[in-house]
Amino acid sequence: MRTETPQAIRLSDYRPPAYLIDEVELHFDLSPNATRVKARLDIRRNGDHAEPLVLNGERLKPVSVALNGRALGEGERTVDDEFLTIPNVPDVFTLETEVEIDPQANTHLEGLYMSGGRFCTQCEAEGFRKITWFPDRPDVLTRFTVRIEADRKFQHLLSNGNLLEAGELPGGRHYAVWNDPFPKPCYLFALVAGELDVLEDSITTMSGRKVELKIYVDPGMAPRAAYAMDALKRSMKWDEEAFGREYDLDLFMIVAVRDFNFGAMENKGLNIFNSSLLLADPATATDLDYERIESVVAHEYFHNWTGDRITCRDWFQLCLKEGLTVFRDQSFSADMRGEAVQRIKDVKQLRARQFPEDQGPLAHPVRPSSYLKIDNFYTATIYEKGAEVIRMLKTLIGAQAFRAGMDLYFERWDGHATTVEEFIRCFEESSGQDLSDFFAWYEQAGTPKVTVKRRYDEAARTLELELSQETPPTPGQPNKRPLPLPVAVGLLDAEGRTLAFERDGQAMDETVIVLKDGAAKVTLHGVDRPPVVSALRGFSAPVTLITDAEPKDRYVLLASDPDLFNRWEAGQGLARDLMLARAGGAPNEVGEERFAEAVGRALTDQAAEPAFKALLLALPSEQELALARQPADPAAIHEARETLRTRLALHLDEELRRLHTGLQQLGEFSPDAVSAGRRALRNAALDLMAANPRSEVVELARGHYEAASNMTDAIGGLSALMLIGGQAFEDALAHFYDRWKDEPLVVDKWFALQARDPGDGALGRVLGLTAHPAFDPKNPNRLRALVSTFASMNPSRFHDPSGAGYRFLADQILAVDAINPSVAARLVEPLGGWRRYRPEYGELMKAELQRIVGTEGLSKNVYELASKALA
Ligand code: PHE
Ligand code: ZN
Repeated sequence: MRTETPQAIRLSDYRPPAYLIDEVELHFDLSPNATRVKARLDIRRNGDHAEPLVLNGERLKPVSVALNGRALGEGERTVDDEFLTIPNVPDVFTLETEVEIDPQANTHLEGLYMSGGRFCTQCEAEGFRKITWFPDRPDVLTRFTVRIEADRKFQHLLSNGNLLEAGELPGGRHYAVWNDPFPKPCYLFALVAGELDVLEDSITTMSGRKVELKIYVDPGMAPRAAYAMDALKRSMKWDEEAFGREYDLDLFMIVAVRDFNFGAMENKGLNIFNSSLLLADPATATDLDYERIESVVAHEYFHNWTGDRITCRDWFQLCLKEGLTVFRDQSFSADMRGEAVQRIKDVKQLRARQFPEDQGPLAHPVRPSSYLKIDNFYTATIYEKGAEVIRMLKTLIGAQAFRAGMDLYFERWDGHATTVEEFIRCFEESSGQDLSDFFAWYEQAGTPKVTVKRRYDEAARTLELELSQETPPTPGQPNKRPLPLPVAVGLLDAEGRTLAFERDGQAMDETVIVLKDGAAKVTLHGVDRPPVVSALRGFSAPVTLITDAEPKDRYVLLASDPDLFNRWEAGQGLARDLMLARAGGAPNEVGEERFAEAVGRALTDQAAEPAFKALLLALPSEQELALARQPADPAAIHEARETLRTRLALHLDEELRRLHTGLQQLGEFSPDAVSAGRRALRNAALDLMAANPRSEVVELARGHYEAASNMTDAIGGLSALMLIGGQAFEDALAHFYDRWKDEPLVVDKWFALQARDPGDGALGRVLGLTAHPAFDPKNPNRLRALVSTFASMNPSRFHDPSGAGYRFLADQILAVDAINPSVAARLVEPLGGWRRYRPEYGELMKAELQRIVGTEGLSKNVYELASKALA
């Protein structure tokens, strides 16, 4: 057990920094085991006070401290595990410090560490304090000059900003000096040193400035950075067009590293990426990889304005940069790949990751008010729900006022660290609306339930819609306020034709009803025929929608809703209800048949894109079903979902084969959205056929795998073989490993594939894989490929009735906690849902959480999440 309960940090305790640092000069003498870091800080007192100077510093070996050139003795300063404290300092002074650090021994991957023999850094959120003493908080903005010295075998020496100088030194060493003219918080500092290949390009910005673009990768990998480069150029152009934002330095660099805690990092002028989100070629990357690379490259680039130029005052404001930047990257992807398909994918992601969080013990508002470890708050709520909140804001005030508010925000806050309040104030000014109610979206956790009921009066030709909302309690927030909710609504008739109507005397096809209070009634006029209501079009608010729609209405929507999101959603809703009915012991066979027929008709719709049809074919996940009706029985859910899949496979057999043959790739591979959509549909067809595995299907899947000329199809074939099981799968799996064992990113896929095997023997195989020579818990990608994939994407095996799946996860969390606490903490979430499951499961999950919390020497990171999950 922990001896002391760690202290929470609270938003209400925020105080401005006691001292400001205008300039810092860093001098790195790099060496894997003993790097020397000298820092020279120009410091001035902020305000009128007599507080000591307190600088953060962890795991630093002190060498020297001097104030205005005079070395400070033991009595004039104190150093402990967390701080350097100097009691008496002048108003303005220079502090020079020197410390030694050990990058090679750094397995947390925060601060300065080694990856693949190269030096690299990760400072967000609080890693800079592991490099040197500094006020490690985002509201201290400083101009950085960085001198790096290293052995010449560390060929490239990179940091933020512009290269001022570089040259040779005696003893086989060399150096480089970088200066970043933009004041920044230290979490945006970066340094990279090592042997790298570089892919170069350039662009001219809208004001005619030339910018050099460089992507640094492992030797030999430069061709695999081509797609990221292309995505970067498109992102830069898009931000100019969509937001009027131009890049500001003469050089923009990206470096890919294999060992990285998260996806990627927006360090000023020097983004650092997890190589899995940067490197791609047709042979080794799937279409999903391409899609994610495009969006993450855009995301990190967009941070240059929303994050770097304007940053957060404190970490409670994290959504100020993250929610907004996700909103921006989603808008970019929608423009690149098609709005409806992108929206469906974003909502799927929200439902898969954010909804469980919001409906469980770890629920927190988009802007939380306290935390133990900020690393634990890089959550789906801050990112994805944070983006939904911005999207609603845009819907509520309109595109024009939204853009004007963004312009105002950029103008007013450029070069500052600010808050969500100030951000929202810009939109109040641009729209002239009072947004104080809207602010509750930032402060209140939980997923609202919105109910829409209709009453049609044929004689009066009116449709009365009755809307109401309710947000269930979440930890620490028992009573919820109503939230302003934009509900986009359109009407269809029984034949699927759009029904026009009048609202407040105006004729229209679609309207946004803003539900402000607990309940409201809206009357639409001129409704000529009995309507089918298409509510929450485009998923206009992040809520759970409950309607009085009957299955026949949903079939109309599935066949004809011009809002493609709701067309997809209608299919999902039908499938969800059918599976829940079966899992609850009341199967509706007639309904299942009818659903299969309707899906068959949707598949033959010539007007619909393949990418959309692929999404239609994918049934709601088992996790989504577990969330929909509680207590959940994972075995019954799995069974129900497989039954519906088999029924679809039987019913659609001919159509699925036709798709599989007809969508074969003709020309050369192209990663574009249309080609990817065709592959997605073809693979979805195969996946469904695998639910009805006759020998022809085994042959088809084997042929699919063997003929694959790209990674998407190889994984598609292998997955189908996995679902079928047997020797054909074993052979292909062995072949795949043998073919790709020297490609780490592909080996990750090999682990991940087995981790999501729903077959009977899969749990044993997963346990065994931790002893595989290629398994490496120090590498977050490899660890997550096996452990997170298993715990979050393989519900039927994770919830093994014996509890062995839970035990495996807890064992891994404890093992990894000793190596890398922030990565370990992100594995806790799947156990956090224990209350939602039937007690025979839930109790076993809970017992593992208790075992974790009771472990000696546990990190704050894991402690915070595991103890909250139990509370
Ligand atoms: N700020 C990064 C992003 O979302 C995420 C990140 C956080 C990366 C913390 C590393 C460490 O773009
Ligand atoms: Zn981000």
